[in-house]
Amino acid sequence: MKVSSVLLVLFAFQAAVAVVRSTAPCTLTVGYYNDKCNRSVEGIVRDTVKAALNADSTIGAALIRLLFHDCFVRGCDASVLLDPTYSNPYPEKTSGANIGLRGFDVIDTIKAKLEAACPNTVSCADIVAFAARDASVYLSNGGINFTVPAGRLDSVVSLSADAESNLPGSTFEVSKLISNFAVKGFTPEELVILSGAHSVGRAHCSSFHDRLSAPLGEINPYFRDNVLRKDCGAGPADPMVENNIRDQNATTLGNLTGYVVPANGSDLLDNSYYHNNLNNLVLFHSDWALIDSSATLKHVHEYADNGTLWNLDFADALVKLSKLTMPPGSTGEIRKMCRATN
Ligand code: HEM
Repeated sequence: MKVSSVLLVLFAFQAAVAVVRSTAPCTLTVGYYNDKCNRSVEGIVRDTVKAALNADSTIGAALIRLLFHDCFVRGCDASVLLDPTYSNPYPEKTSGANIGLRGFDVIDTIKAKLEAACPNTVSCADIVAFAARDASVYLSNGGINFTVPAGRLDSVVSLSADAESNLPGSTFEVSKLISNFAVKGFTPEELVILSGAHSVGRAHCSSFHDRLSAPLGEINPYFRDNVLRKDCGAGPADPMVENNIRDQNATTLGNLTGYVVPANGSDLLDNSYYHNNLNNLVLFHSDWALIDSSATLKHVHEYADNGTLWNLDFADALVKLSKLTMPPGSTGEIRKMCRATN
């Protein structure tokens, strides 16, 4: 091929890429994809999330956590989905702060279906936001429901160090949690509201190792010694335990009381987290820390007392979370595959 032809091909390629690459938009709209695809984009996401939850109900928690871990690091830009590459061996998902992050395969399945229905149209960042909403709807039996504004773009940057410096740690004291959330524009009340997501899902023992020797007053001693220590002492190197004591094996719990017994099954996204917290029956130090300050304790009481209010406020807080934007001047694209930049 002649040099001029090569240049022409290169130019055409760059022009094509430019079509899908632009500075990230700052306005998101509800129903964004209604006129962009001849199939229902949100319907495809919803049906795929539903099928994934029918196969494994624990995956819903993973999808909610994905939104948090995506949006708190460089905004909601699907940066958390990028796999390591030769030129970027340590993207966000390799960070210790992202331990246990899962649900990537569900996002891949949704993306493949959407690419087949309307290629180069739906961003991975929007898929993460829709999927977190749909998981919340299913896990709350419809108690939590909300519209998700869309139009996000996918980033081309993903660094493990950014995840380390932006995501809160499970050993954080309440003042550090409050300041970590304040940096992202969230109030202490919203910290309390969003932490209620720990009513579902599970965690590695290494994520709450400090709790196995936490002092009286910070954890129920039966829960510490006869439940968590036993769970973590058995089996593989770093076993996993249910976030919500409610979802533990009933025989392990013995005569323990003070936690919310499920009315209809496990994996329910509800306000039980707040009742359990007031009884020192939560997993992480960062959960317990919310009752260690008057600024947050009053909201723990508020949401323990009013599950309907928590449903509404959790929906609002997730929408706010989903609106966190990429750093100014970032470029974005619609990825063809969620695990790699174009
Ligand atoms: C407040 C600060 C927070 C801290 C320190 C924290 C920390 C953690 C940790 C350490 C795990 C367990 C990871 C593992 O060992 O595998 C976890 C799980 C989880 N977190 Fe958080 N988290 C916080 C806030 C949030 C928020 C805001 C949400 C969502 C709105 C959330 C949703 C979840 C869910 C659903 C799981 C279970 C995931 C699964 O089962 O795969 N967390 N969190």
